[in-house]
Amino acid sequence: MNSQLLFTPAVSTQTELLTVFAVDNSTSKDKDARPEIALLTSDEAVKKSAGYVLSSGEFKAEANETLLLHAPEGLAATRLLIVGLGKAAKADIHAVRRAAGTAVRFAKPRGLRSLAILAPEGNFDPAQAIRATAEGAILADFDSDTYRTDRKDRSIESLSIVVPAAIDKSAAEAGHRDGVIIAESQNFARTLINEPGNRMTPTILGQRAAEMAAQYDLKCEVHSTDKLRELQMGAFLAVAQGSDEPPALITIRYEPKSVAPDAPVIGLVGKGITFDTGGISIKPADNMEKMKYDMAGGAAMIGAMRAIAQLNPAVKVIAIVCAAENMPSGKAVKPGDIVFAMSGKSVEVLNTDAEGRMVLADGLHYARELGATRLIDAATLTGAVAIALGQINAGVFANDEDPYQHFTKALETSGEKFWRLPVEDEYREQIRSSIADIQNTGLTRYGGAINAAMFLKEFVSDTPWLHLDIAGLAWQDAEKPWLAKGPTGVAVRSIVEWVRSYA
Ligand code: BES
Ligand code: ZN
Ligand code: ZN
Repeated sequence: MNSQLLFTPAVSTQTELLTVFAVDNSTSKDKDARPEIALLTSDEAVKKSAGYVLSSGEFKAEANETLLLHAPEGLAATRLLIVGLGKAAKADIHAVRRAAGTAVRFAKPRGLRSLAILAPEGNFDPAQAIRATAEGAILADFDSDTYRTDRKDRSIESLSIVVPAAIDKSAAEAGHRDGVIIAESQNFARTLINEPGNRMTPTILGQRAAEMAAQYDLKCEVHSTDKLRELQMGAFLAVAQGSDEPPALITIRYEPKSVAPDAPVIGLVGKGITFDTGGISIKPADNMEKMKYDMAGGAAMIGAMRAIAQLNPAVKVIAIVCAAENMPSGKAVKPGDIVFAMSGKSVEVLNTDAEGRMVLADGLHYARELGATRLIDAATLTGAVAIALGQINAGVFANDEDPYQHFTKALETSGEKFWRLPVEDEYREQIRSSIADIQNTGLTRYGGAINAAMFLKEFVSDTPWLHLDIAGLAWQDAEKPWLAKGPTGVAVRSIVEWVRSYA
């Protein structure tokens, strides 16, 4: 999708589909109360054109509700689409992002290849609103039906965001640029996640990362078994050893010309299990195909680096993706095996399906060795996080308030939902092993997501660190009005914003 800003009046915008957002100004809690619809535009021609149908009361401007008008009177556009943002009090930039997505997903099945969206005029920062509009539209254009041989490409070719004269032109351009870069990078991550295990091996993930890095002038190195041995990454190697596919240790570096004084070095660490069978502790057959998305955390880091390279923040960033395939075989690690992680800690492998924490243990330690002074990891780490938080919030864990405060700020911009879970010493006995320093699963099934976080914490020492458990949100089984089903690319936007907060 090609996205551009238009600085000409809405009334004269020639397009197959002109979209305008609407809110309900009524504060009544009564469901049957008549809505007080207001269009978020100052364009009198648009308001006049929609006035009659809105006065009918049929359209309530509920969030993502749509109303289509053909041949709108007085406008150059051939269709006018009104998309609701809900009650005015709740109509924030995140509602705008979803509503812009709803407009795109309205257009796609109708064969419309271009559309215009009126930048909303309301109680939000105009640049942020334009950014959210671009993000929502680009994210909504993604569909994951890649391997249908009769696939019809219904992608939107061109999006125009119509900017009213009252909005500062350079602020609009800056917001738009951010939105395009970040949403395209999130879609890039989704494309990687969508690939099945046979088409996204650790080696292929390494190649895709290297291609991206070359395109955006990032330094990238991809190493395999020999390097893992040299670095004594015994935990990562233990996961990889059961597969015929060699592992990939992907390192991507962003080194800006100028770095803000006192800026930390940021380390991004991603779980890149390209397929998780569970290994010898094999998973049940039902739903096992989903485990192709077990590299979503790694893909999020690669996507975030793609955006960071273009946004150019004044802070150094190192991304590490630990990619491997978790397979049962005659060479596979077995329950009870003891391995030594890169940090020197001994680990008893009680369950080979708890492989994500094993590869991240070495990835986190390695990031520190490369100089990272703030760490964030993202991983589809536990089913337990989805049991705890459902599929609405992802889990965030922190061993320090500073990175967590930066993260909550980042969420205000990204609109992604994360809920904090504890990492406290009282939980540590869950991972105490009778024979090694630690074991890779908890003594009990309770608090499984926390036990996994406690395991990771062993490998970050005193470095301020955030852990994102995205297992419940990385894949969406059902379509939303604003988003296709399939890989979501969750965490990309928040990670990018978090990194920028240190520049
Ligand atoms: N990749 C899974 C976690 C997962 C589950 C991701 C569902 C996405 C959806 C992870 O490697 C795993 O298998 N974790 C185990 C840990 C257990 C053995 C302690 C789990 O959650 O059951
Ligand atoms: Zn597993
Ligand atoms: Zn896994």
